[in-house]
Amino acid sequence: MDEVPQGVGRTALATAWIRAEASCRPDRLFDDWLARSFVDAAGDAVPIHGALRADGTDGTDGADGADGTADLVETMSTYMVVRTRFFDDELTAAAAAGCRQVVILAAGLDSRAFRLPWPPGTRLFELDQPAMMSFKERVLAGTGVRPRCERHVVPADLTEDWADRLLQAGFRPTEPTAWLAEGILVYLAEDQAERLLAEITDLSVPSSRFALEDARNLAGGMLDQIRRSSPMGQFADLWKGGLEGESPAWLGAHGWRGRETPFTRIAAGMDRPVSAALPIEGYFVTARRAGSWEETGVTRATAPAAAGVGLGAAPGPGVGPGVGPGVGTRSGPGHVRGSNGHGGDIS
Ligand SMILES: C[S@@+](CC[C@H](N)C(=O)[O-])C[C@H]1O[C@@H](n2cnc3c(N)ncnc32)[C@H](O)[C@@H]1O
Repeated sequence: MDEVPQGVGRTALATAWIRAEASCRPDRLFDDWLARSFVDAAGDAVPIHGALRADGTDGTDGADGADGTADLVETMSTYMVVRTRFFDDELTAAAAAGCRQVVILAAGLDSRAFRLPWPPGTRLFELDQPAMMSFKERVLAGTGVRPRCERHVVPADLTEDWADRLLQAGFRPTEPTAWLAEGILVYLAEDQAERLLAEITDLSVPSSRFALEDARNLAGGMLDQIRRSSPMGQFADLWKGGLEGESPAWLGAHGWRGRETPFTRIAAGMDRPVSAALPIEGYFVTARRAGSWEETGVTRATAPAAAGVGLGAAPGPGVGPGVGPGVGTRSGPGHVRGSNGHGGDIS
């Protein structure tokens, strides 16, 4: 077995397992054909996979142990599958609008560089902890796959000097960027999450885009259930909460405009309804960096669930160079928390 990531890095293994399983469905929302390679390389170190097999269930047949693990796995799987497709669409839309620089924060075993149809000239940066990136690169080297874009791997800790490393890797702070923060903020403490958002904002010229999740209510009753589950409890211990509902307000107060959409609404639009017994009340946020003349704010989506996918693309100007908030400076309103306390309507 390849040396596998430990600690919070194991969450990426669980995500890869979920994506590999989801890619086998006839009604799949995406085909992550690389996920299986990561899962196979990690073997029984894949947290959910190994634990469920030890419990005598496989997480796909509805069988459940006394601690409700299979139901939890199914609900979390639905969440991550819908999240994957939603952010696939968001990055694809950014590319279609002309954005040629993409940064995937805490990329883990994300395979978008290899499976999305990037336009020529797209430069994509993947950041994660050094141990994660070396595991990933070893597995990728064994497959011989080639990215569909100019891919840059940036081993870095997002609580440290990641921005410098990104710049050293060739990131161009004068170009609009599509940022993705998927599955990371809840693993950061509040001050770390806030600092990360501030650093992203500093590196974002107007028309840059930012897609992220705001898992405020994952940390509610469901977190207790996860704690009680023998294989899943280890994840609850890793959660530090991030901005807990404050990220939309924070973005709105710092020159971004866009919208937050409830996960359940997006899931219904993708025909992936969530069990009423285990509701997830996370939100997905899509925002654009506004120019200095533009109104800012992140609003809550109120339209009925769409019949298809791709909700949440924020209205705004086309992607292209512009002027506005400074790049690489701290000239904005300062690193303060949002004022409404619940991350809802602020515009
Ligand atoms: C749940 S996984 C999500 C991975 C990926 N975004 C995806 O959706 O497949 C969380 C990821 O965050 C990374 N991570 C957690 N804390 C980090 C930090 N301080 N710096 C860099 N990466 C971090 C882990 O290594 C892991 O790959």
